[in-house]
Amino acid sequence: MTADIIDGKAISAELRVKIRDEINELKSLNKNFNPKLVIIQVGSRPDSSTYVRMKLKACSEVGIDCISENVPEDISQEELLAKIEALNNDDLVHGMLVQLPLPPHLNESIITNSVKQSKDIDGFSQLNLASVFKKNDYPLYLPCTPKGILYLLEHEKVGISHKNIVVCGRSDIVGSPLAKLLEKKGATVTILHSKSTEEQKKFYISNADIVVSAVGQANFITGDFIKTGSTIIDVGTNFVPDATKKSGQRMCGDVDFESCLEKAGKITPVPGGVGPMTVVMILVNVLDSAKKAAD
Ligand code: GUN
Repeated sequence: MTADIIDGKAISAELRVKIRDEINELKSLNKNFNPKLVIIQVGSRPDSSTYVRMKLKACSEVGIDCISENVPEDISQEELLAKIEALNNDDLVHGMLVQLPLPPHLNESIITNSVKQSKDIDGFSQLNLASVFKKNDYPLYLPCTPKGILYLLEHEKVGISHKNIVVCGRSDIVGSPLAKLLEKKGATVTILHSKSTEEQKKFYISNADIVVSAVGQANFITGDFIKTGSTIIDVGTNFVPDATKKSGQRMCGDVDFESCLEKAGKITPVPGGVGPMTVVMILVNVLDSAKKAAD
């Protein structure tokens, strides 16, 4: 069996067109409708700069005004909190995100919690995350990677209810909320993490209808122990040595793509799978926030 490749790049492009058209229409109906996102980047980590550039480009393509505020690496927590507070109080700003990771002197939890819930389009604040974990509750904004994965599964008509799903990784912003959201949709979910044994990993993955891997380890999932016909969602972004590349390395996910391709039913590639979906969900959340502010 050869798996269908889930083309996150194409699916996100389709969605971006819809977002752009909706924004154009709303702007034509209301000249004051001007969705705006502010990204705060602390310091100049090259990986963060790349992600910020991608977000700026995606926003400009759909008509979202996006400003990146680069603040010094050594900014104090008080100064950063004051900046966030000013943006919380700026009615022209509909969404705000602080690019992670932060330098160690800044408390990530305090910083992400200081973003007003109605502007927390990353969905990282306690208020938004807590409602993911409550029965019959739903956050104002879902974190963008879990939201993008749910969108991909629905787009590909991969059923969730009654399924065995394994989520590898238990981060606050991907693994844990995604596992809970899948469970809320009726799946039986197992979370594998750094303390899971190799036997547990093999046992649960070989019985899983859907496997989502978000551990940040190349070749974490290999074709020999996935279930035939299963859906494999790769959230990993890793770099491995590759002498054929000018940079000497290539990007890959957590999944050994070639071996899983032969056995899975559907699979996301890296790049071009989950990554573009995360970016497009930021646009969805900013548009949502701008629409609520205009109501
Ligand atoms: N760093 C890596 N991914 C993300 C993300 O989705 N949001 C923010 N704020 N920082 C990140």
